[in-house]
Amino acid sequence: MHRAIRNEKMLASDLDGTVLGDDCALRQLARWIDENRDTLSLVYVTGRFFESVAELIAAGDLPEPDAVIAAVGTSIHLYPSGEVVEEWRDRVGDRWDARTVRRVLQGQESLRLQSEELQSEFKVSYYADDADRQTLETWRRKLQFAGIDAEMIYSSRRDLDFLPIGMNKGSAVAFLAERWSIAPENILVSGNTGNDIALFEQGLAGIIVANAEPELKRLNGPHIYHARYACASGVLEGIRHMWEPK
Ligand code: GLC
Repeated sequence: MHRAIRNEKMLASDLDGTVLGDDCALRQLARWIDENRDTLSLVYVTGRFFESVAELIAAGDLPEPDAVIAAVGTSIHLYPSGEVVEEWRDRVGDRWDARTVRRVLQGQESLRLQSEELQSEFKVSYYADDADRQTLETWRRKLQFAGIDAEMIYSSRRDLDFLPIGMNKGSAVAFLAERWSIAPENILVSGNTGNDIALFEQGLAGIIVANAEPELKRLNGPHIYHARYACASGVLEGIRHMWEPK
């Protein structure tokens, strides 16, 4: 991998609605990151593709990370090189094929394919407004019947992503941390919607910001901190609570 990791801690955070959403708060978080950069690995874990994250960073809107886990966990890129971590992609099994997912779900009522720019070989994304559990399960079963094992990730009662089984934001963070020899107890994750649930399923300490969607707010446990503040203020509040207790 790109460098010998000397850092002790890792912050692995979602972007939209978590790090992004309040510019003033983001500046404060960026200052904290800057002050702690020598002992911190910074990873963005997002539904966006890498190019879109790279544009935000280039525009000066975000602190420079060490890696970007993009497209809901389906690709890992080192930063600033943009190099794709191929070993992660090698994990895609033979019960995945994006074209089959699209073919099987074509014409389903209440399922609208997101735009082509948001699709990839490893991510098929739809809008499914207010889908209930039973309907979601019907779609999953249709895919299984066609030989597809997929992660089905529903966020904000709207976004529905199908990804290769075993690939999600949480498994990608665990993979990267292992590659970089960062101990699980030194990792902090943060998020605000359903595609972040997987981050909290790895047993890692995590922050749920105050503006989070109900599907995430529902999570509880000794390793989860529910922030009082929204977006980057909530992330900073969680960092202070978890890493700098008085
Ligand atoms: C981002 C992606 C979108 C996805 C959503 C939830 O908004 O652009 O494709 O459905 O995250 O994961």
